[in-house]
Amino acid sequence: RKTLCVLISGNGSNLQAIIDRIEAGKLNATIGCVISNQPQAYGLQRAQQAGIDNYCLSHRDYESREAYDEALAALLARYQPDCVVLAGFMRILTESFVNRFSGQLVNIHPSLLPKYKGLNTHQRAIDNGDDVHGVSVHYVTPELDGGPVIVQSRVPVFSEDTADELASRVQEQERQLYPLVLDWICNDRLYMKDNKAVLDNEELPQTGYA
Ligand code: GAR
Repeated sequence: RKTLCVLISGNGSNLQAIIDRIEAGKLNATIGCVISNQPQAYGLQRAQQAGIDNYCLSHRDYESREAYDEALAALLARYQPDCVVLAGFMRILTESFVNRFSGQLVNIHPSLLPKYKGLNTHQRAIDNGDDVHGVSVHYVTPELDGGPVIVQSRVPVFSEDTADELASRVQEQERQLYPLVLDWICNDRLYMKDNKAVLDNEELPQTGYA
């Protein structure tokens, strides 16, 4: 059984989807711990409720990005995670942190990468007049939101959409997509090789998937 550690900054709806999947016996994993960089993150309560070790590691208590990431890595190391799952973790990680967990670090990003790296992805899709938007799960590499895509899911953009409406449509997909990818990881079906995502020994296409 694989150990996942989940990093969050906010609501934790992706965390909840993972917890639910494990509790339903449909994901063969345990969550070692949940760590938030924001003290008020509701996801910490979700972890508490599920009896999962949870920590607030506030970036405000550290002098530099390097110092924060060192502390984060040290805390994670206690749990020996097979995979570190970024689930709405809104902090850029240092290259040395990313390299330390290379191939064991995944992120969910609310756009069809390589489109809309960074923030405010839903508003940017609307402003651009896109009629399709979505979400990507990808391996994390030092290039921000630039690591190999594992899977994407698309949603329509309607003409009257607000960013919030579009976000909730995307988040419905996220709750399906992330547990699916973690299931592949937990069954040793997915790995990263030469900066490519490989599923069942086949390199995954970088766009237009799912
Ligand atoms: C999700 O929509 C996720 O895709 C996004 O934050 C939200 C977190 O929701 N992540 C990013 O923007 C990463 N840059 P949650 O806390 O309810 O899981």
